[in-house]
Amino acid sequence: MAKLSSSSAAVAALGVWVLFALLAEQGQLALAEAGYTTGGVDGVEGTVKRMVEEAIRCKPSLGPALVRLLFHDCWVNGCDASVLLERTPYNSTKGVEKKAANNIGLDGFDLIDKIKAVVGEGVSCADILAFAARDAAYVLSRGNIWYTIPGGRKDGVNSSAEYADASLPGSTFSYDELVKNFGARNFTPEELVVLSGAHSIGVCHKSSFADRLLLNVSAAGQINPVYQAALTADVTVKSGSPPYDSNPTEMNNIRDMDPRFRTASGYNATGVNTAANNTLDNSYYTANLQNMVLLKSDWELTTNDFAKGKLIEYKNNGTDWNIDFANAMAKLSSLTVTPPAGQYQEIRKNCRVINNYY
Ligand code: HEM
Repeated sequence: MAKLSSSSAAVAALGVWVLFALLAEQGQLALAEAGYTTGGVDGVEGTVKRMVEEAIRCKPSLGPALVRLLFHDCWVNGCDASVLLERTPYNSTKGVEKKAANNIGLDGFDLIDKIKAVVGEGVSCADILAFAARDAAYVLSRGNIWYTIPGGRKDGVNSSAEYADASLPGSTFSYDELVKNFGARNFTPEELVVLSGAHSIGVCHKSSFADRLLLNVSAAGQINPVYQAALTADVTVKSGSPPYDSNPTEMNNIRDMDPRFRTASGYNATGVNTAANNTLDNSYYTANLQNMVLLKSDWELTTNDFAKGKLIEYKNNGTDWNIDFANAMAKLSSLTVTPPAGQYQEIRKNCRVINNYY
């Protein structure tokens, strides 16, 4: 075997050091040490991507669910998979985050469990969720939204419904409250407008937008009255016929409603591909500027000159929105926090429960 000269050995050692420094900087050291490669089709990320693509093919609603799940994890004490916990000795009297009122309709937990069973104990649940949400955004945007994110997140041991409700923005928030909520996590008003575009996909339960069906809301110009009437009629039919769901869902984006609903509402689809159902794109901005969105928090963005300017800008430029949304999602995926005193982080063996729970 050829011997290394002392100078080439020094160069090799420097190379290894530089590699480790780079991996550490990218937060991938934990995975590299655990024997995993995150990138490439054969690494953890490749496995997650394949499983997410397959899952969305079988059950399309999982796509929006994963994008929202990431937001609801990372917004509450950083991306630490606390939203996945079923129980923990640290939780509050009201239970874990899943029990929070703001967490109505969360889904995707079974898929995260399935991925965890395949990628193994060395990969954190927080990393799995971050990769899965990124892959869901890629699939739902038909390949237009993509970003790279490092691995190396750790799983938290605390999960509190009260804390989740205190941290997540409410759908009845004013524009100023939304800006304050985003600012507390170092997200700008522009990023608020960008990330709200996620409401181009998925659904809302009636209870989340019931306030918007009141006639004084349309009278005050906060929702298009014709759209409001069509919505009221639709939820009434859904609640009054089998399976008699008292809290039915409606599509977030009027683009994804039945063509008859769109026509009845007077929706102007100029610039929107109405055949591209459930696509994560800038069509949310077209709907919002026509006052045809479900949530008050979405409408609030039209009340501020700066935010309204951004709504118009993103309505007119889908490519800019794809890029800005990808960057904001990467920033969201990197929200981490130091655990409070007396708590620690780990890589969970089971995403629903901390490792030493008796
Ligand atoms: C700006 C403040 C926000 C508020 C007040 C808000 C509120 C809500 C509410 C109330 C729902 C419906 C829940 C239900 O009734 O089932 C919802 C759905 C959704 N939200 Fe948001 N959200 C906000 C921002 C975001 C962000 C930043 C993202 C992602 C980056 C996001 C992604 C989604 C998605 C994808 C859905 C549909 C979920 C599904 O169909 O499973 N939201 N949001």
